[in-house]
Amino acid sequence: MDIAIVGSGYVGLVTGVCLAHIGHNVVCCDNNEEKIKALKAGKVPIYEPGLDELLEKYRKSGRITFTSSIAEAAKKATVIFIAVGTPSKKNGDADLTYIENVAREVAQNMDSYKLLVEKSTVPAQTGDRIARTIRLNLPAKHKQGKNATLEFDVASNPEFLREGSAVEDFMNPDRIVIGVESKRAERLLRDIYKPLKATIVVTNLATAEMIKHASNSFFSTKLSFINSVAQICDRVGADVEKVAEGMGYDKRIGRSFLNAGIGYGGSCFPKDVDAFVRLAEKSGYDFKILKSVRDVNEQQKEWFVRHVEDKLWIVKDKTIAVWGLAFKSNTDDMRSAASLTVIEALQDEGARIQAYDPQAMPNAKKMLKGVKFCDDPYAAAKGADCLLLITEWDEFRQVDLAKTRDLMRQAVVFDGRNFLDARALGELGYEYYGIGRGGNA
Ligand code: UGA
Repeated sequence: MDIAIVGSGYVGLVTGVCLAHIGHNVVCCDNNEEKIKALKAGKVPIYEPGLDELLEKYRKSGRITFTSSIAEAAKKATVIFIAVGTPSKKNGDADLTYIENVAREVAQNMDSYKLLVEKSTVPAQTGDRIARTIRLNLPAKHKQGKNATLEFDVASNPEFLREGSAVEDFMNPDRIVIGVESKRAERLLRDIYKPLKATIVVTNLATAEMIKHASNSFFSTKLSFINSVAQICDRVGADVEKVAEGMGYDKRIGRSFLNAGIGYGGSCFPKDVDAFVRLAEKSGYDFKILKSVRDVNEQQKEWFVRHVEDKLWIVKDKTIAVWGLAFKSNTDDMRSAASLTVIEALQDEGARIQAYDPQAMPNAKKMLKGVKFCDDPYAAAKGADCLLLITEWDEFRQVDLAKTRDLMRQAVVFDGRNFLDARALGELGYEYYGIGRGGNA
């Protein structure tokens, strides 16, 4: 099938490349000309495992092409996925300016049936808005009064990809959700995903939009719940890792998304929780649980900083090593990364920061001032009064911890992910502080 993807960020690019991989002809579109130029030259602007190889393969074979013109992309394709950004406004609402622009531009260039598919996370009822924008902006020859004479459909097909394993998630989805208002749209979307042999949940548009809201908000709720449990574990001498394991065997609960840490970040959960709270508010419902989820997440980061400050005793002029900056491992994404809050708070108290991340340093350099960025974990640890593990990169499990200890001025570790081997660190003479590990290891 001929498919256009408008928006070549994480979601759009991964979706485009994977759709090419399952046999479709894809044109990826973005208004950032520099990005399109780079993609045409085979340069992938993000770090995402497995993406480079697939992109190279289908770029070379011509199954995936790039353009900065929506008109061009829309002309070729029958199905147009909208994967542009929906950033948060100050009041928490999702800013849908880019979505409206895409709908308008597609409409202005429409000369045959098109199916527009929402891929970006958008508030429920956005589909209706898109359809109205299209009707209002169709060329006069395709309208009779207010009515469109050209057929089109709007559908919702929320993505559930996780950064860092997005290609894998696309190829092996737990389910595919399609929200449609016509049989034709359903048929097209079913055809697109046929090669994946996945369970397909078909709903109306608003329900599909709601499934995405509810899923991300539920994950965030699980995380704030386990982080709250971790707080109590610390106070009563229990180990949250074991609590999560014990809970997780119950199939009704499940073990995933129960890793306590310094709070969730990234481009999705913080923004999506805000947007769902706002959507609820506008519809007249006070979503108290979700507001608490958000508060707990903020408090978790603040607590981590206070904990470090307390154990360090004097923060001013201390050197703090930071391992990991990205909001999670296997990505270079720094959006709403906990490292930003933690580092800035400690800098405010006069600490010097030496940091290392395997992928995110180029992005981090644009967002953090006064940080010494190091070439490897050892360089970051050199002369440090304590070490903070912020992102759970596998690389940090390979580090020689005895060598690291000898490089540090004080062997003190705050493990914001419960990722390092607490017992091994203890045996090597480190003072180790995890999250919810009974006050210590
Ligand atoms: C999330 C969802 O998992 C995807 O299904 C969804 O498609 C995506 O948002 C989106 O809406 O675009 P992502 O933000 O890439 O994916 O990352 P996650 O793996 O979900 O992690 C989110 C945050 O939670 C990270 O900061 C991570 O470190 C944290 N986390 C996750 C924990 O602290 N503990 C856990 O057990 C799991």
